Order: sequence, then structure tokens, then C-alpha cells
Amino acid sequence: MDHFALKNKEQLLDLAVRHGTPLYYYDGARVREQYKLFRSFFSFPHVGVHYAMKANYNPTLLRILCEEGCNIDAVSHAEVLLALQVGFRSSDIMYTSNMISDTEMQAVAALGVLFNIDSLSRLEKFGCAFPGSRVCLRFNPEVVTGHHDNVKTGGDETKFGINLRNIDSALAICSQYGLRVVGVHEHAGSGIPETVDMEAGMSAILRLVTLSRFPDLEFVDFGGGFKVLYKPGEKVVDYFTFGASVSAMFSSFCSSFGRELEMRFEPGRFLVAEAGYLLVTVNTLKYNGDRRIVGVDSGFPQLIRPMFYGAYHHITNVSALIRSDVEVERYDVVGNICETGDRFAKDRMISTISEGDILCIHTAGAYGFAMGGVYNLRAMPTEVVIDSTDGVTFVEFVRKGLSAQELIDSVLSK
Ligand code: LLP
Repeated sequence: MDHFALKNKEQLLDLAVRHGTPLYYYDGARVREQYKLFRSFFSFPHVGVHYAMKANYNPTLLRILCEEGCNIDAVSHAEVLLALQVGFRSSDIMYTSNMISDTEMQAVAALGVLFNIDSLSRLEKFGCAFPGSRVCLRFNPEVVTGHHDNVKTGGDETKFGINLRNIDSALAICSQYGLRVVGVHEHAGSGIPETVDMEAGMSAILRLVTLSRFPDLEFVDFGGGFKVLYKPGEKVVDYFTFGASVSAMFSSFCSSFGRELEMRFEPGRFLVAEAGYLLVTVNTLKYNGDRRIVGVDSGFPQLIRPMFYGAYHHITNVSALIRSDVEVERYDVVGNICETGDRFAKDRMISTISEGDILCIHTAGAYGFAMGGVYNLRAMPTEVVIDSTDGVTFVEFVRKGLSAQELIDSVLSK
């Protein structure tokens, strides 16, 4: 199967015409499918899934995941508030704090969500402010992995997690303030290429739990990091085999622990990346020497992954698909921002492009809009979610991007 075939090409063109471009389009049904697929990897009966909403905080996608029974991993006061406002209960939300202020700690604590704490310093302040509370402790699994250095969260180079060697100090603080450790957490990185690294992180944390005393433990959280396909021909990770293996590992861990615990994960990218597309219009074709430069009406602040991580995002010329053009040519696809690095693709073979064509940038549902900004004072795109729950009735949710004047009004705080 061609993973990047666009079966809905007419629908994409229609959306581009009706809403204009640049446009983020999300397929709600695909998010539901990904959620069900994720759950199906694991045979262990008590699996908790907390969507890492930093990947995409679109409220319609959050509601869809809420309907499916998913929970939330939030990382800021505003993320917690948004999750509550779209319908999650405080008991569905874990707040994974990192380098927070006392003010933020107080504000989030008032919302009644579980804190996942990743430094001795914050644990001490939390214990002092809220003695007797339930808490989750985040440890550094000391496994270094992820698709790029900037997203590796284990090992000596990272700011995340309590060092495994500090377990005694962490437990001493908990006992001083009567904190009940209901969860232990690790997250090794994002876009983890090999499941063996995920299993190494999981084993490290299970070893820690086995060697220490956690009488109140309810769950062990193994974070996110599940890969999706960005590039044709890329290796597909076999998460079914992984799921079977870690289900067996966790089951035998629970037997030796003496109690059934919940095995928890926090996928972000896996649930939403492939459900999202960024549609752009070609407005300029030019040559620079031999290079064919294709200019489009979006830029890196609207999808920063290619520039920030050198990430590959597949690009299809939707208009050429409709025309049934078969010729392909080599292009650099660039954006409308005043920086040379503002490039979505370099030396990319794409069906022959004309000005006015609509290009589809694939796998844009995770860390696309969510990492966006308004550099050069260009507003973020409109977002559309189409949800086809029963296969017949299509429900369309639109969040309109700001016009230039509305953006200026927000700058002038009007
Ligand atoms: N849990 C924790 C504690 C995390 O820090 C993250 C991601 C996740 C879960 C979800 O990871 P995922 O399943 O999405 O890999 N902007 C980067 C990714 C940054 C991930 C940050 N933490 C990118 O575009 O690749």
C-alpha cells in the first residue's frame, strides 16, 4: 500500500478552495483509528493512554480523543485548563511539570490534577505546599534516544527527570511531607527509531521500582516516543511485537510486585501526526541557476519541523494528481518568510508544478500548528477538522486563521 497516496484528493482541493490556503486539515476519523490501533498493540488488560497534547492542542481533536476514552498528559497551566474546558475530568489529566514557577504550581494544583515532578527541588516545594498529596515521580531512564538531539530526554545531556541515583533523596522528601507516590514515570525521547531503546527505558524504571519501596504505587508511565512514517520507503516499526513483549514484561513485573498496576503511555505524535495535512498554494516559480524554486504561501513558523530538525515531510502536488500528470521534476519548495532556511523540501522530486497548484505537506498533524508562531507577522493558518464517525455524516469544524488586521489588533491589544 502506498502510505502517501491521497485517496481524498478532490476533498483536499475543495477544502483549499472553500477555506483558502495555507490550511491545516485534520481527519478526525483517522485520529480515532490511531487511538484504537494504539490500544490494540497491548494485550495487558490495564493500559492507560494519556495523549501528550503538546503535539496538537486543536480542541476538536481533543474532544475526539476524550470521546474515545483517552486521557491527557499536559505540560502547562493553559494546557490543563484547555483539557478541562473541552471535557476531560481532572482525574483524567496528569501534569508533567518542568522548570515551573511557584505561581504555576499553585494555579495548577488548584485544578486538582496529578503532578508528575521531575526535580528534587520542585518535589521539596510541592511537598511543603501540599503535604499528604498524591504524586508521580519522573526519572531519567538514562537511555539516550530520539529522532534528533533536541528531543532526546534521557542521559546526562538532558534537563528532564530525577537522576536514578537520587532515588533515596526523592523518597526521603516524600516521606518527610507524607507524599504518596502513586506513579513512576520515564520518557526517553520522541520519534524513537528502535523499540529496543523503548524497552531499555522501561526496564530501567521497572528495576528502580523493584529495588525501592513504593507502597502506594498505582501505575508506571513509560511516556511517548512512538514513531510514524514521514518518508516513503521508511521502515515501519512493528508495535504489535513490541506491545506483546512489553505486556509480558509488565505482567511478570506485576506478579513480582505483588499487585496489578496500570501500564501507562503518553503518545503524542502517534495519535495525530498522520491525520494532519498542511495545504499550500504555489505562488511563485523561479530559477536560481539550475535550481527550480517553488514558492508557497506558508513558511517555517507554520510548520517548523523541516527547518528545526531537518525533518522530511512528504509533499504531493494535489492539482497534478487531479490533472493526472505523470511527469516529475526536481524542486526546492520554499516559504514566504525572510530567512534562507525557510524551506519545506530540497531537491525533491514532485509531479510537475505550475503556479496556482495546491501542494499537500503530509504528516503535519503533530508538532505543526502547535509549534507555530507569527514571525514576519503572518497569522497562523485556518484549521479544519472533518470527523466522519458513522462513515456517512461528515462533521466539519473550522477555526479561522486571523486576517492581517485581526493579527495587528491582537498586537495592539485591541
Ligand atoms: N511525554 C513526555 C513527557 C514528552 O516530553 C513527550 C514529548 C511526549 C510524552 C510525547 O512524545 P511523542 O509520542 O509525541 O513522541 N517537537 C518535536 C517533538 C518534541 C517532543 C517533546 N516531548 C518534533 O516535532 O519532533
